[in-house]
Amino acid sequence: MATAKELWPLYLGIVLGALMVSATALMTPFVIGRATDTVVAIASGDGGDWRDLIWFAVVLLVIALANSLLTNIAGYFGDQMSVRLRAILSGRYFHKLLRLPQRYYDNELTGKIVSRLNRSITSITDFLQTFANSFFPTVITLLAVLVITAFYSPWLSLLLIIIYPTFVWLTALTSRKWQVWEKQKNDHYDIAGGRFAEVIGQMRVVKSFVAEKRELTGFNDHYDETLTLTKYQSAFWHRMDFWRRGALDIVFFGVYAIIFLQAARGDYSVGDMVLLIQLTAMARQPVTSMSYWVDLTQRAVVGSQEYFKVMGEVDEPNNALEAEPTAEIRWTDEDPVIAFDDVDFSYDDDQGDGLVLQDIDLKINRGERVAFVGESGGGKTTLVNLIMKLYPATNGEIRVHGQSVREVPTVALRKEIGVVFQDSNLFSGTIRENMEYGRPGATDEELTVAATRANAMSFIAKLPNGFDTEIGERGIKLSGGQKQRLSVARALLKDAPILILDEATSSLDTKAERAVQAGLEELMEGRTTLIIAHRLSTIASVDRIVTLRDGRIDEVGSPAELARTGGIYAELLALQGSESKADKARLRAYDITS
Ligand SMILES: Nc1ncnc2c1ncn2[C@@H]1O[C@H](COP(=O)(O)OP(=O)(O)OP(=O)(O)O)[C@@H](O)[C@H]1O
Ligand SMILES: [Mg+2]
Repeated sequence: MATAKELWPLYLGIVLGALMVSATALMTPFVIGRATDTVVAIASGDGGDWRDLIWFAVVLLVIALANSLLTNIAGYFGDQMSVRLRAILSGRYFHKLLRLPQRYYDNELTGKIVSRLNRSITSITDFLQTFANSFFPTVITLLAVLVITAFYSPWLSLLLIIIYPTFVWLTALTSRKWQVWEKQKNDHYDIAGGRFAEVIGQMRVVKSFVAEKRELTGFNDHYDETLTLTKYQSAFWHRMDFWRRGALDIVFFGVYAIIFLQAARGDYSVGDMVLLIQLTAMARQPVTSMSYWVDLTQRAVVGSQEYFKVMGEVDEPNNALEAEPTAEIRWTDEDPVIAFDDVDFSYDDDQGDGLVLQDIDLKINRGERVAFVGESGGGKTTLVNLIMKLYPATNGEIRVHGQSVREVPTVALRKEIGVVFQDSNLFSGTIRENMEYGRPGATDEELTVAATRANAMSFIAKLPNGFDTEIGERGIKLSGGQKQRLSVARALLKDAPILILDEATSSLDTKAERAVQAGLEELMEGRTTLIIAHRLSTIASVDRIVTLRDGRIDEVGSPAELARTGGIYAELLALQGSESKADKARLRAYDITS
């Protein structure tokens, strides 16, 4: 990735190029002025040589050619710079996003993050490019014009000096109000864009609920709002612009009157009059382009505020991108492998009564297989999130291999854990690419072993392109069970000492699930495994079951022990044997099927 330092030479090149362009532009009025005097001299029979006129034309040609050449060279550098700048800003934004904690993403819409990136970066890039291309040349041109006109007529330069502060003051007045509207418009764009991305990503749901019209209406409503806002914003802007330009026209009325009268009085020649008219015209042009600048600047201010707001978010502590490459830590062989010490947890920072988990005290030993059972929404997945440090515990301490997850480098911690998430989350691309996410550069052999263990080989082998089959966004071209098996294979390839299966086989039929389990059996040997499953048969062979009730640990024991205590597990077992509708409904509350 390019760095900002690399940009300086380019930036300087552009500024220099632009200065030379304006220098050539400044020469033209002088040549035309002299040419006019020569023409006047020849016409009035006061001497003068027509050959000089040809030379003046030649000089004008050379100036024009030089101007074109320099403009294009500066343009070339300008293109380079804006693309590099875009690369730098986008790279930094992504770099930042990858460092942010999970909580940030819980509260943001994907589409919003994307549209903000585009808007912020476009506005900043446009601004810097325009600034490089026209700010310095304009300032230089203005200064030159002021000095030269002062030489001919101090009154003229005085008038010109008045224009600029007046104009800037008037635009600044406009600016504040304009920005408020702009912010409101951006909010609408972001909400609409966020929804847009979500709808595109979940088109099946939209279609099945026939929600197309509703979504379209919602989307259009936001754009209609921006239309309304733009009406106010634009009317205000153009009204102000009219007054600004009117003020400018009045000043120029004075400027022209002075030039004409002074020339008529014989203060300077007709050629000088032509020169002054052209110079003052050159001074006028930047004043009008100033409204464009102000517009760009305002966009850049709003855009960069959003950009820097994201950049100012607090990073996840010792996140993967900032960790030292040597952040490998020496894990002790200490048991328990995972320990919860009086852990409370709430997804909200304010820790109100919204505790999802309370007083969790639990030790899981090396090589143990532990299952979690509890009501849907009971906090099982949350427990897993905490072990991976996706969220910090509100109170208490979680230790892995005897070390607090607060202190252990996140990278090292997450290397220890292979996880299959409840909603198998795959990426677009091929099966191979998805599996390699678990182990970059895995060989075909390794892929086959993992896929076989996860009982995924049976379907992969049937695909015409095998491992190189494209599976669509989030694996949409695969069946639910195929996605799950692929996620299991991906986790297996990671070959981590701790394996977490959160409903990893919930979409499989009993036969396929048995096959996955048989494959896992061998693999779980010597590994600490946490299983959340909604089929009791899946967890019948675990070492211990932990049941959760109201965010607290209810019981801990072997399946055989818990079957006798009359607790949640026993209840579920009994319900499972029952055929009554009410019992089945109760089972479903625990996400359990027989
Ligand atoms: N990212 C989040 N932000 C805020 N609240 C959350 C978040 N994720 C889960 N919750 C809440 O935390 C509680 C526990 O959720 P969790 O996903 O841990 O349940 P679970 O036991 O895994 O349920 P299930 O069996 O349905 O998967 C739920 O009430 C849920 O609404
Ligand atoms: Mg869950």
